[in-house]
Amino acid sequence: MSIREQTITMLESLRGVWDELAVDELDHALQSAARALDDGADDELVLASALHDIGHSSLLACGSVPHDRVARDWLTPRFGARVGWLAGAHVAAKRYLAATEPAYARTLSDVSVASLHAQGGAAVDPAFVAHPWWPDALRLRRFDDAAKNPTARGTDIDTVAGLAERVAAAGAGPA
Ligand SMILES: [Fe+2]
Repeated sequence: MSIREQTITMLESLRGVWDELAVDELDHALQSAARALDDGADDELVLASALHDIGHSSLLACGSVPHDRVARDWLTPRFGARVGWLAGAHVAAKRYLAATEPAYARTLSDVSVASLHAQGGAAVDPAFVAHPWWPDALRLRRFDDAAKNPTARGTDIDTVAGLAERVAAAGAGPA
């Protein structure tokens, strides 16, 4: 299966998967990508934004493995270390923002507040803030948090598939 087909199959597997109450995981993915595009993010950051929650896909059943790690492990060999790390850091970014911005926790959805407890609560992970890509992980987290609006416009699957082809072809990962 080509990288384009793999990306489309993965996105389509998110239709009807409800981690949040307001949008399913496909709409969440496409809104995350749209918010990243609105912000002028580079291709890798847009792609990581679109695919950060693929750990919730039934195609990647992971048992007890956290969904952020599942995403990183699927993305890294296909799109390179940066896309994998950025997607895999979206929980660490939430924990960081909850620990350092008093108003941030009030902006989270009820589901996200509940999962924050299960993920270890608000905390600054020294390994996270020492990483060279962590500012972009915070950007991704804000796109993620803004992508739970049932009336918002998302991008489309074809746009994300095109991005996936470009990133893979740029040599970040095997095609
Ligand atoms: Fe998310």
